[in-house]
Amino acid sequence: MEFVSIQFNADEPIYLQLSQQIQMEIDRVKPPPGEKLPPIRKLALALGINNGTVVRAYKDLERKGFVYAKKGSGYEIIRHTDAIEALRFSVNHKVVSNLKHQDINFASATPDPKVFPVETFKACLNHVLDRDQGYAFEYQEGGGYPPLRESLCTYLKKEKGIDLNPSQIFVVSGAQQGLDLISKAYIHPEDIVLTEMPTYPGAAHVFASRGAKVIGVSLEQDGIKISELENYVAIHRPKIFYLMSRYQNPTACCYTRQKLKQILKLAEKYHFFIVEDDSLSELVYDKKSQEETADLLYGHSQVITIKSFSKLLMPGLRIGFLIAPETEQTLILQAKYVSDISSAGLLQRAVDIYFRSGQFWSHLEMMRANYFENYVTMKQALTIFKQKGISFNDSRGGLFFWVHFPDTVPVYELQKRCAAQGVRFISGHRFYHPGSMKNGLVNAARFSFAAVQTQEIETGIAMVQNCVEEILEERRKESYQLP
Ligand SMILES: Cc1ncc(COP(=O)(O)O)c(C=O)c1O
Repeated sequence: MEFVSIQFNADEPIYLQLSQQIQMEIDRVKPPPGEKLPPIRKLALALGINNGTVVRAYKDLERKGFVYAKKGSGYEIIRHTDAIEALRFSVNHKVVSNLKHQDINFASATPDPKVFPVETFKACLNHVLDRDQGYAFEYQEGGGYPPLRESLCTYLKKEKGIDLNPSQIFVVSGAQQGLDLISKAYIHPEDIVLTEMPTYPGAAHVFASRGAKVIGVSLEQDGIKISELENYVAIHRPKIFYLMSRYQNPTACCYTRQKLKQILKLAEKYHFFIVEDDSLSELVYDKKSQEETADLLYGHSQVITIKSFSKLLMPGLRIGFLIAPETEQTLILQAKYVSDISSAGLLQRAVDIYFRSGQFWSHLEMMRANYFENYVTMKQALTIFKQKGISFNDSRGGLFFWVHFPDTVPVYELQKRCAAQGVRFISGHRFYHPGSMKNGLVNAARFSFAAVQTQEIETGIAMVQNCVEEILEERRKESYQLP
């Protein structure tokens, strides 16, 4: 790129004139993302201005989202104005529990705040505030801060090998808002929404809050029962089928590729959207499990994917994203606008820096290692249950074990006794909504290893086992006393 012939005028600060000229040059040449701006000293010398003026111009471009300062290697171009305008244009359409501190918590599915990357994130926030000043507090584009949308694309490419365009990505204030936006955009009173059974209750509640009739489809070990889904879609013509294809909440089940393909075919035939909720697909503890359960749904024209970072980073950030087909952008942007206009700009910018600086990757590795240790420990501890007719699925990933108990050990009774002794887990019935009960509840419970310390797991599971034995012993005594 050529900047040597710039004629500065006396009316405007030189750094602003330089920044505008560079911006125009970037638009004219349209260099590929990643190309470098000239070194500061070299450009200052060529233009006969101070190094400091060039630095201010580069910082101005960075604040506007055209370039990014890469530590130790200068400024890289991110995009040109056309791309920014395209994004701007699309935007113009326009638990509180009774848990006690000392309890062993197999109920919570969010990480322990002690592992939150507070110091690094503080540095990201400071970086944004120093760099962007008041601009960090402007309204953001409804689809999200453009550099963050790009960082998320880079993330998906690196983590999952998926190529997406930033215009397919919508930053949302957590996956829960993603569900709400989809409901606002697509659901009218009396519409049918299908979910897995059991499912994440927070989703069923959102659909129901829009007046939808929510119906559950039975879940097997490798995904929903296809024949049942086929039946339901033919009869009910649902708007949406909501699923979690990887390490489902609560059962940890993963779909086979074959089942996902069958569901995609049905979605095409009966014109419903598959809404995939993905908060755990990164938590793979065994390569084979990863190969078996590829990310088949991402980017498909019949699928809207919701991605949460609450389990991987910090739930209170309230930053997640949606991936939606181009055709659906207007509806989703309208829903976002009427909900909260845009997600917080300061946090989006800080998360962008967190990704670009590579900190997210090291954090993810640390989280995987922590969760893996808990997974192995809980799996070993649960193995002792097997002698009592208690079984569990092992999906080699995610955050949960879905444990089935025999009828002689009613889960509601077990839960009450365990809670009295300071061990918490969630009874399976909490994951069934009224529209899914007719096929019967299972006597099961979700044990999460997200929030516990590794050393608490064995103790906690041993306490659950004592309660199981107590119940069985009482049942035996009762049956002796029968005439
Ligand atoms: C399956 C599922 N979807 C969505 C959410 C909400 O996530 P977020 O914190 O990103 O709103 C949760 C939270 O536990 C969840 O388990």
